[in-house]
Amino acid sequence: LPAVTKALAQWVFSHPYNIKRPEVTKYLQPFQLSPETLQEVSARLRKDLLRGLGKHSHHKAPVKMLPTFVRATPDGTEKGDFLALDLGGTNFRVLHVRVEEEAQKVQICAIPQEMMLGTGEQLFDHIATCLGDFLESHNLKGQTLPLGFTFSFPCEQLEIDKSILIRWTKGFNCSGVEGKDVVQLLKEAIHRRGDYHIGSVAMVNDTVGTMMSCGYKDQSCEIGMIIGTGTNACYMEEIKNVKRIEGKDGRMCINTEWGGFGDDGCLDDILTEFDVEVDKTSINPGVHIFEKMISGMYLGEIVRLVLVKMTKDKLLFKGQISEALGTPGRFETKFISEIEDGLENAKKILTELGLDWDLVDASVVRLVCDTISSRSAYLCAAALATLVNRIRNNRKLGHLKTTVGVDGTVYRKHPTFSSKLQKAVRLLAPQCDITFLVSEDGSGTGAAMVTAVAQRLAHQSRLLEESDGEDNEEEEEEEEEGQ
Ligand code: BGC
Repeated sequence: LPAVTKALAQWVFSHPYNIKRPEVTKYLQPFQLSPETLQEVSARLRKDLLRGLGKHSHHKAPVKMLPTFVRATPDGTEKGDFLALDLGGTNFRVLHVRVEEEAQKVQICAIPQEMMLGTGEQLFDHIATCLGDFLESHNLKGQTLPLGFTFSFPCEQLEIDKSILIRWTKGFNCSGVEGKDVVQLLKEAIHRRGDYHIGSVAMVNDTVGTMMSCGYKDQSCEIGMIIGTGTNACYMEEIKNVKRIEGKDGRMCINTEWGGFGDDGCLDDILTEFDVEVDKTSINPGVHIFEKMISGMYLGEIVRLVLVKMTKDKLLFKGQISEALGTPGRFETKFISEIEDGLENAKKILTELGLDWDLVDASVVRLVCDTISSRSAYLCAAALATLVNRIRNNRKLGHLKTTVGVDGTVYRKHPTFSSKLQKAVRLLAPQCDITFLVSEDGSGTGAAMVTAVAQRLAHQSRLLEESDGEDNEEEEEEEEEGQ
């Protein structure tokens, strides 16, 4: 790195804690990725994007680069009344969206843990029930509204309303859904009830929903990124580069599924023993390795494992592991945000976890949280830098100005995550000027927007055909007159 960038890097990667227990640094050092390592990570992802886009290489590619059939972002003129479903985290949401008024009604239904691990039929029956209750309580049962379905899992999309689940992620593991068309499963569940109908369905990944809902407000938004329970991003790619799709002109949104980066072992050299453990004990070992270093489903557990090891080595809590600290999953990712937010929070949480702490313990815990959340932010920055650099190269631009729509609890709730990520992206993609726009109304609205944009495009092409027709008629008339 040039000297100026090195100085900048020092500032970006510095942390505010002055720790009086230097032995702890050896535990944390493997999490501290240098700017050079991040550049290397970005270069590896760049290659993997190409593998995912390739006609013959995509089958085995860890970064799946899934076509979404979304060919344009909003132009701000979209209108209409839609239903939207949003499934992907711990809650399931049903929405009624009126695009031009930005009005929406929302109902949130919890998805109990047993249901996340039960049968697909139970899950889709539950979804159909929530939707039915929503329609009932908002007097919408008689209408047949188009429905946008945000389904935040990797799907091979065959058409906008045909989407095959490749695999569950993020703690979901319902039987009988992988390899099936999710739209079909939803329609069957609605049919089993038989008391209401839905119109055309558009299936959307949450990254796409986020890009589209932000794109309504800022038309230069061409990337959607989620850093929440899971992590992923989508962006507008040139169709000619998507070798599995016919056609040469225009763009299509690609759902990268970057959470799968590293599934072929290409990140093994930066994994820590704690990452390996988190993967081994997860419900989907061996897959979504990048996601497991970054997202909310796993960050708390990584911190817990580090704290347990330090305690066993008598560096923390007088060597005493409390029952809570010894229990997998008990150190929640939201504790990281709270602990980093202030020393008082840290003390409170350590007490709640039944730990016998002193002030140095509390500051070490804060440093552990900072180190692990920073690594997550920097890895996301490296991945995002890869995407913006790719868009810039695709368009042969010296300088790219673009907007990224973002959502997810880690990005939204952590006190310094977003600023660290932004600083690091600037460092890794110096020729790109990126505006970050947090999605206001969630990815559900974006699913409605996908339908609205598709309707707008269809309407435009009808108008074009009609005017072509008129031109032809005129030409024919002229020809006739000439004869
Ligand atoms: C899924 C993605 C999703 C991301 C964020 C990942 O686990 O594979 O499809 O976009 O989580 O919700």
